[in-house]
Amino acid sequence: MIIDIVNGPNLNLLSKREPEIYGSMSFESYLEVLKSTYPSLTIRYFQSNHEGELIDYLHAIGFEKTHIIINAGAYSHTSIAIADALRSITAPAIEVHLSNIYRRESFRHHSYIAQAVQGTICGLGLKGYELAIESFLNSTT
Ligand code: DQA
Repeated sequence: MIIDIVNGPNLNLLSKREPEIYGSMSFESYLEVLKSTYPSLTIRYFQSNHEGELIDYLHAIGFEKTHIIINAGAYSHTSIAIADALRSITAPAIEVHLSNIYRRESFRHHSYIAQAVQGTICGLGLKGYELAIESFLNSTT
């Protein structure tokens, strides 16, 4: 099974960025944990701070036999274009947020991405990515 993790703006700063909210582990370190937990999976990772690059990446992989885990960061709350890209492709997608967006500022309570994916996992930190993988694994068995 192929898993594509797509992270949006500022998630490249995990471990340095507001660690009291987002934790102290970098995504690169967590990716190594994920890869060793799931050695039989092909786990690809793409991060960009640019909306158009995220859309281009979704277009590039979205018709492959892959499974997308997307954390669009702040674009979750603003980007109809990324939501449309997710609707335009055939690969299934799950949205992840590290923080519980519903316990934070009201502008974070709405996600355009949520309307275009199978489901959303939020508030469980990096574990959310693993739970999304588990969901994909369980849906094929
Ligand atoms: C986030 C939540 C967003 O509101 C924020 O803009 C982020 C990270 C999360 O993972 O909790 O960049 O998507």
